[in-house]
Amino acid sequence: MRQRLSFEFPADTGMLAKIGEIAGDVGGKAGFDHAEISDIQLAVDEACTNTIIHGLKKDPSRIFRLMIQWRKHEIEIQIHESGEPFDPNATRDPDVKASLEDRPIGGLGVYFVRKLMDEVEYLNDENGIKILRMLKRK
Ligand SMILES: Nc1ncnc2c1ncn2[C@@H]1O[C@H](COP(=O)(O)OP(=O)(O)OP(=O)(O)O)[C@@H](O)[C@H]1O
Ligand SMILES: [Mg+2]
Repeated sequence: MRQRLSFEFPADTGMLAKIGEIAGDVGGKAGFDHAEISDIQLAVDEACTNTIIHGLKKDPSRIFRLMIQWRKHEIEIQIHESGEPFDPNATRDPDVKASLEDRPIGGLGVYFVRKLMDEVEYLNDENGIKILRMLKRK
């Protein structure tokens, strides 16, 4: 049986702890183990951080929607946001082999999300709302 939860959050990094808690809770209900739940939490944290900072410019009067649906051994998370347009194909994978000093700062969030989740899609709906959809299977 598929279950679904939906939340609205202001663009405030103070919300990230609560979001991590929700993701962890649902990950447990879907039957993921501790390591898998940590991966889901990291991906959701990076994605929501990007939405808050880059998409909505940390303006707490602007909101984004977090939608989570799950069933046994599968979780899907969507972030709906109508902020700054973004072409994810324009981001390059970071050079993770470069030494720490040579690495540019930032640019790891999108890379982590893609590594940690099984399906990742950036979409725009008919109203121009950006949707990041990510799914993980056990
Ligand atoms: N939701 C979003 N809206 C607008 N731009 C975004 C969004 N998500 C990512 N971006 C753009 O993609 C770039 C890469 O994101 P990514 O998370 O990989 O790196 P970062 O946020 O710059 O640094 P960090 O490693 O701290 O996450 C960002 O710098 C930003 O320009
Ligand atoms: Mg980021």
